[in-house]
Amino acid sequence: MKKFSVVIAGGGSTFTPGIVMMMLDHLDRFPLRKLKLYDNDGDRQSVLGEALEILLKEQAPEVEFSYTTDPKEGFEDIDFCMAHIRVGKYEMREQDEKVPLKHGVIGQETCGPGGIAYGMRSITGMLEIIDYMEQYSPDAWMLNYSNPASIVAEACRILRPDSKVLNICDMPVGTLRRMSQIIEKTPAELEVRYFGLNHFGWWTSVKDREGNEYIDQIRAYVAENGYLTQVEVDTQHTDPSWQETHKKAKDLLAVNPRYLPNTYLKYYLYPDYEFEKATPDFTRANEVMAGREKKVFSAARAIIEKGTAVDSGFEIDAHASFIVDLARAIAFNTHERMLMIVENNGAIANFPDDAMVEVPCLVGTDGPEPLAQGKIPEFEQALMYQQLTVEKLVVQAYIEKSYQKLWQALTLSKTVPSAKVAKDLLDDLIEVNKDYWPELS
Ligand code: NAD
Ligand code: LMR
Repeated sequence: MKKFSVVIAGGGSTFTPGIVMMMLDHLDRFPLRKLKLYDNDGDRQSVLGEALEILLKEQAPEVEFSYTTDPKEGFEDIDFCMAHIRVGKYEMREQDEKVPLKHGVIGQETCGPGGIAYGMRSITGMLEIIDYMEQYSPDAWMLNYSNPASIVAEACRILRPDSKVLNICDMPVGTLRRMSQIIEKTPAELEVRYFGLNHFGWWTSVKDREGNEYIDQIRAYVAENGYLTQVEVDTQHTDPSWQETHKKAKDLLAVNPRYLPNTYLKYYLYPDYEFEKATPDFTRANEVMAGREKKVFSAARAIIEKGTAVDSGFEIDAHASFIVDLARAIAFNTHERMLMIVENNGAIANFPDDAMVEVPCLVGTDGPEPLAQGKIPEFEQALMYQQLTVEKLVVQAYIEKSYQKLWQALTLSKTVPSAKVAKDLLDDLIEVNKDYWPELS
């Protein structure tokens, strides 16, 4: 079998060790000849790089491993770039969450003003790594799961239309794992129909390979419990704040009982509730810094100190195996069916062609082929149209350096109550993001 060379961009990410361990676990399906980490923060990345170097020497010495902050070293001779960058890191995620709360608005990583602010930062970083990939390995593909995925995908559609960038999200994967547990199946046994924007969509069908439909059974469970399941099925979304989120799906279903909701819809349908229960001194960014970030970096330091990764605290991010499925789909033309963020072009019949939507696709050597989801009902369509316009305005504001358009984007967000609040918020966001955003006028 062919062996591949992969660079992980955002090598200093809290997800890097879990994803590397997952890739080592899948070497029989996706063999590696080279694995590199690339980051623009050498100090942060070197902790994980040094630890992973020890781990790879022990567990997969045949894979050539390196880590670098030099774009040429990072991006030359690669087949795939797996991208999970966070422009501004946790310091800025904290601002995305805390600044809106000061204005009475929910603060969230990808939804509402937080997502808009993060989007304005991410575009620059994403374009930078896409350009490096195209300069040094023009035939490579980027598998991107950096957030906010909708805004990043729209920016790629406009600014890098011919680039080989595939945008994918782990949230539907995580929720499908929960659904599979509810009906006592495995995710691999199930096939779904789904439509929406990223972090803003609905499942319309969950069937097994024989064609038996389970949506009623899942719906009955979710109406009582949300997606909260007894056993922890997902290594990522298990913190206390996530348990709340899985539970809240019950109230999302109550508004719209026809389809199974993506959990992120809670920020749009219940922003007042989310605001009231927010803890401004300790938001999700703080929870991650005190939890996942601390755990991953302490484990790395322990490996370096001991000089061995035997019994290390690095855990396999099993749920991230969808990334290997995606790489395999491209490399071996498997026609794997996956939810991807792609240009609509009729997949949702009554939605704009140029919208970046999330729908099931068959993925092969030429990339994703979206599967038609037909017409969607008015309620979902109207919500999606509003959110789509927000995302398009953000990208236009970035390109045109337009204060007016970003003000409109914030005003239109379902999470923001008025143009006045939007303007006050924007002025604060400009101030805290001045090292990252283009200068707006
Ligand atoms: P993190 O802050 O721990 O890591 C991000 C890394 O990206 C940092 O080391 C930072 O220095 C680096 N970076 C920032 N800008 C860069 C640039 N221009 N070039 C190269 N590197 C750059 O963040 P995290 O919590 O691990 O998340 C990483 C990303 O993955 C985020 O965008 C997050 O939203 C997304 N994400 C991925 C998954 C998944 O399934 N793996 C799940 C949720 C979120
Ligand atoms: C993360 O940092 O895990 C996020 O990207 C999603 C979350 O858990 O808030």
